[in-house]
Amino acid sequence: MSRHTFPRGFLWGTATSAHQIEGGFAENGRGESIWDRFAATPGRISDGSDASVACDHYHRWREDVDLLQWLGVGAYRFSVAWPRIMPAGRGRVSDTGLDFYDALVDALLDNGIRPFVTLYHWDLPQPLQDRGGWSTRDTATAFADYATAVARRLGDRVGHWITHNEPWCAASLGHEMGEHAPGHRDAGEALRAAHHLLLSHAWAVEALRADATATDAEVGITLNLAPAWPASPREADRDAARHFDGSFNRWYLDPLFRGSYPEDAVADRVRRGDLEGHDLPFVRAGDLQAIATPLDFLGVNYYSRVVVRAGADGEPVVERVVPQEELTEMGWEVFPQGLYELLVRLEREYRPAKIYITENGAAFRDEIDTSGEISDVRRIDYLHAHLAAAHRAISAGVPLQGYFVWSLLDNFEWAHGYTKRFGLYWVDFATQRRIAKQSAFWYRDVVAASGMDGDARSTTVRRLR
Ligand code: FCB
Repeated sequence: MSRHTFPRGFLWGTATSAHQIEGGFAENGRGESIWDRFAATPGRISDGSDASVACDHYHRWREDVDLLQWLGVGAYRFSVAWPRIMPAGRGRVSDTGLDFYDALVDALLDNGIRPFVTLYHWDLPQPLQDRGGWSTRDTATAFADYATAVARRLGDRVGHWITHNEPWCAASLGHEMGEHAPGHRDAGEALRAAHHLLLSHAWAVEALRADATATDAEVGITLNLAPAWPASPREADRDAARHFDGSFNRWYLDPLFRGSYPEDAVADRVRRGDLEGHDLPFVRAGDLQAIATPLDFLGVNYYSRVVVRAGADGEPVVERVVPQEELTEMGWEVFPQGLYELLVRLEREYRPAKIYITENGAAFRDEIDTSGEISDVRRIDYLHAHLAAAHRAISAGVPLQGYFVWSLLDNFEWAHGYTKRFGLYWVDFATQRRIAKQSAFWYRDVVAASGMDGDARSTTVRRLR
């Protein structure tokens, strides 16, 4: 039987983020974040919940490191909560805030697990939002100071740094679509926010390279990328797909790898009235050059493709064109081939030094059966198919060096609250008990063998008892 064996040294991991798992909001002087404020606003979170307890990881982190150790992973991606480190967003640095991550890093290293630290996974300190948040350049300056504070404490041991997680989400879901904190609906503000996020990335790269002393420390950024497919061969639909690609993928890739915003996408924005004239008024001399500082790696979060058609007003419309059973609980199409195509395109068009898949995974309606097992075979199928696509991309020459399942634990899925479960571990939020889903057993085998059978899950899934 054919096997997919990954290259020697390929890193296997899982990912989480601070706001989604930590809880412990009131602990040790943590400041308020924009997500605390957002969740406290009625109607923002679908189940009316918030993340004040979440997975209680702030108190149970040792137990969670044990889960990682049991899985056998060589890497763990987590984020640092800026409001724990600088409760006011700038100025005073909290040593007790840093202590938490310091101990976590040591515990990971003691277990042979490499920490991949994300500096910003969306939990901006509220005091910075009160002064304009990402729509101001000042927030980028504050971010660089925060990066310095974290690098000075953890930089002797952390070898992998991710400045931002998914700046498109922070900028557009947060400032244009109103679905994420701070919940604004202003396309122009979103473009300013996107630029300041990229600029803050550039300044943080500089800070990390100056202060992270671990040998061979690597610095990168994580983007959420999705190939855009036209709903039909019609010219208008193909143009809608180009438009979507420009505002979603290339708006970030081009500045980072080419030092410019994509001209066609800028023109689309001007046509929509989101920008006046062809200038991007928020871009200052030297910004794009700084943003294009070469990175050690690109982090890629991949969940699905998007299918796009032209709307009546000429604007692109994202369509669901697939039968219900191929969708995950998020309503996202299962489309592993898109991962292969994305990786090959990145290699061809942007030539990143290395790529890590920093998130890939799926929410399904998991259930515990009478014997206490969670047979999440659809998640296993999903992960299996995406890993097979990743393996194919490596064979095609893509410098892919690691893969992180989203997520280690079921957690607070942003505006969906606790209604979407992505974990390899089920979390019973009433008792905080963690239960390994069948996918955790499956992933453990994949990690141990650094690969899996070429055939579908039926051959790899065994009964647990
Ligand atoms: C990504 C986020 C992550 C998680 C997954 C499902 O966009 O980075 O925090 O919510 O989606």
